[in-house]
Amino acid sequence: MTGKTKSININYTEYDSFEDLTKQWQNLVKKAEEACETAYAPYSHFKVGAALELENGTIIKGNNQENAAYPSGLCAERVALFTAHSQYPDQKIKKLTICAINNENKKTGVSPCGGCRQVMVEFSKENNIEVLLKTKEGKFHLFNSALDLVPFNFNKKNLDG
Ligand code: THU
Repeated sequence: MTGKTKSININYTEYDSFEDLTKQWQNLVKKAEEACETAYAPYSHFKVGAALELENGTIIKGNNQENAAYPSGLCAERVALFTAHSQYPDQKIKKLTICAINNENKKTGVSPCGGCRQVMVEFSKENNIEVLLKTKEGKFHLFNSALDLVPFNFNKKNLDG
């Protein structure tokens, strides 16, 4: 008996430039860029900004918060996601985008780390979070669901008997 090779396919939409995005996404990208500016990143000098939109239209921003004890810091996405969920526990998170300013002070894109993806999975239990990621080349990739960024994820269902 031999194993069977299987594959998964992840769909996303590529936009060549900021101008090609919908006005709603453009607005959210601008908010993420604003959030970048006030990131607290004295150690990595890599400033990340996140902006998310709730179902009631509220926009929540977050940025990375570093610490001299390195593991005590937190990523921008989690700052935004936890802020949203602590202040609006009943509001679904509909859209999320992130961007960065690198250590040469250049605006760039960033792909979320595994820990932040896991938190997106947690808040995707009853709803889809659409995720827009800027690439290093300045394009944008839109994923219909944060779950597409974490295939074979660990979630609440794994805890249940
Ligand atoms: N960082 C984020 O805020 N989000 C990510 O998805 C990747 C990394 C932060 C953590 C740290 O403050 C800095 O970027 C360098 O890793």
